[in-house]
Amino acid sequence: MRMRKKPNLLPRLERCAAVLVSAPEALRGKWLCGHPACTSLALEIGCGKGGFTAALAAQEPDTLLVAVERVPDALVVAMERVCAQGLRNVLFLNSDAKLLENQFAPGEICRIFINFCDPWPKSRDAKHRLTAPSFLRSYARLLPIGGEICFKTDNRPLFEWSLLQLHAEGWRLRELTYDLHANGPVGIMTDYETKFYSQSVKIHRVVAEKTANTVCDGDPGRLRNASLADAYANQSRE
Ligand SMILES: C[S@@+](CC[C@H](N)C(=O)[O-])C[C@H]1O[C@@H](n2cnc3c(N)ncnc32)[C@H](O)[C@@H]1O
Repeated sequence: MRMRKKPNLLPRLERCAAVLVSAPEALRGKWLCGHPACTSLALEIGCGKGGFTAALAAQEPDTLLVAVERVPDALVVAMERVCAQGLRNVLFLNSDAKLLENQFAPGEICRIFINFCDPWPKSRDAKHRLTAPSFLRSYARLLPIGGEICFKTDNRPLFEWSLLQLHAEGWRLRELTYDLHANGPVGIMTDYETKFYSQSVKIHRVVAEKTANTVCDGDPGRLRNASLADAYANQSRE
């Protein structure tokens, strides 16, 4: 996402310091300790400007939601939103999804939300997709059996590629849809999703559940079908 540089970024970040975790490694394995009202921990990767973050936290006060975003100019908008609403069950990390295992203990997270992540369309960049096998194995180590990845995107080739990876890595797929809002709005929409919905762009969604067969360990090796080209070709034939 190309973000315009925010004026006064540093003072704005400082005003929201109460919700920004600067040393997440120190909380590894004990995120819920300072939040007695919360019974489970959820993670949102790439929260952008935080529309989904704030709405989910308001809807689920007994969930501690940790939102990860690597671009400070987006993060500050999300943090200001949450602070303005007085939400107490959201924390933010200015960090990269690659570092999650330094920050969270195995089995500590019960749900991971990945909403409208960057598609990285070139094959040589496929490893950066947040649904690439190396990321899926990392998520599998952080979730207990029964834990879930909730994935939404408008990008059909990325969606099909992700389904292939999830299936091959032993995740159980549920609630799969290629047109989430076919019969009217469903669930909490993200900022990107609200824009796409207003343009009648179809939203794809799946919930992937970790099972005893989900691959957690080892090197995923060469990517399966790194190219999104086949999926693009299928799309253009529809
Ligand atoms: C296309 S935007 C979507 C934002 C929001 N989820 C939405 O749906 O409105 C993707 C966001 O993910 C963030 N992002 C991409 N890769 C990331 C990574 N590896 N770790 C943390 N954030 C990431 C980007 O900075 C960007 O803000």
